[in-house]
Amino acid sequence: DKGNHRHFMAKEIHEQPEVVAHTLTHYLDMAAGTLRQPFEPAVEWKGLSRLSVSACGTAYYAGLTAKYWFERLARLPVEIDVASEFRYREAPMPENGLALFISQSGETADTLACLKYAKQERQTILSVVNMPTSTIARESDAVAPTLAGPEIGVASTKAFTCQLTALACLALAAARARGTLSAEDEIRHVQHLIALPGLLAKALELEPEIERLARELSKASDVLYLGRGTSFPLALEGALKLKEISYIHAEGYAAGELKHGPIALIDEDMPVIVVAPHDALFEKTASNMQEVAARGGRIILITDARGAAECGITPEATIIMPEMDPLFAPIVYALPIQMIAYQTAVFMGKDVDQPRNLAKSVTVE
Ligand code: M6R
Repeated sequence: DKGNHRHFMAKEIHEQPEVVAHTLTHYLDMAAGTLRQPFEPAVEWKGLSRLSVSACGTAYYAGLTAKYWFERLARLPVEIDVASEFRYREAPMPENGLALFISQSGETADTLACLKYAKQERQTILSVVNMPTSTIARESDAVAPTLAGPEIGVASTKAFTCQLTALACLALAAARARGTLSAEDEIRHVQHLIALPGLLAKALELEPEIERLARELSKASDVLYLGRGTSFPLALEGALKLKEISYIHAEGYAAGELKHGPIALIDEDMPVIVVAPHDALFEKTASNMQEVAARGGRIILITDARGAAECGITPEATIIMPEMDPLFAPIVYALPIQMIAYQTAVFMGKDVDQPRNLAKSVTVE
């Protein structure tokens, strides 16, 4: 049932404040403003030398974002790869290692193959899954659920933000167990997580503006997405979302890689979508943006009021996000990324819920 929405994807985008809140209640003690104690799933984070993550598509980008969180908060080294590569690499895995698999369906063939390999390598298996009865959930030692509810649209939206939410909580739990998180910092981070549903609701209010922007984007044949730090995986996710439902060619790049190749593509025909909350890396991204502007590039900037004031150029369009703590900002910045793809595809008359050549769950290699 699509409710009042034209597509499942629209319904699922709009459900995000609610399903992220629901997912948070699983991991947080809302009244105390802390992580739940004991924390489920119970994982031995303490003596861990490495976390090995594998997943596909959007779930992989959730893992790539979480790498920044696990490393920064818990000082835990993270190795991450797309499942179709990891499964054939014969990668050595550490003794007493932890392997993490992220999957909405819990049935993705390549991800499941990695899980089996990690089992042979005697890793503890942790999975972040949306389908509690799935094969990946059943084969795991511990399951960290996302409570997104059924996701029908082929393009993953609410599953992604719920994966990020669960992973943020896991990174905090790992940090607490490893002694890298003070009690005050735990409370501060948990407050930021509790603020997410309200921020997601505010981000949804940007839809009319994004609809206007989408009309312009629909004329493009190529779009470049740039981001740094945790905005880098979002640039990749933005490009994936746009190509999968609008069939416009799009690429995501780490902003710092611009000079190493993609800057050659810049001209007045290719929109460049820059994801840049005003965080510690903002100035670096702003200078990349200025390089694009100096070459006549068309910039669409997704930032906050401070970023808009300090970017040093006049972008073709600016999407101004609410103010928030930068650490978990990707959970909120995912929404304009999804809405841009959705509105562009709808304007172009594409079948957003069932894009050509794609299946919801990729159970064959
Ligand atoms: O069910 P999974 O999360 O394992 O699926 C992984 C990918 O197939 C999936 O995220 C895919 O990339 C989506 N269509 C992206 O929107």
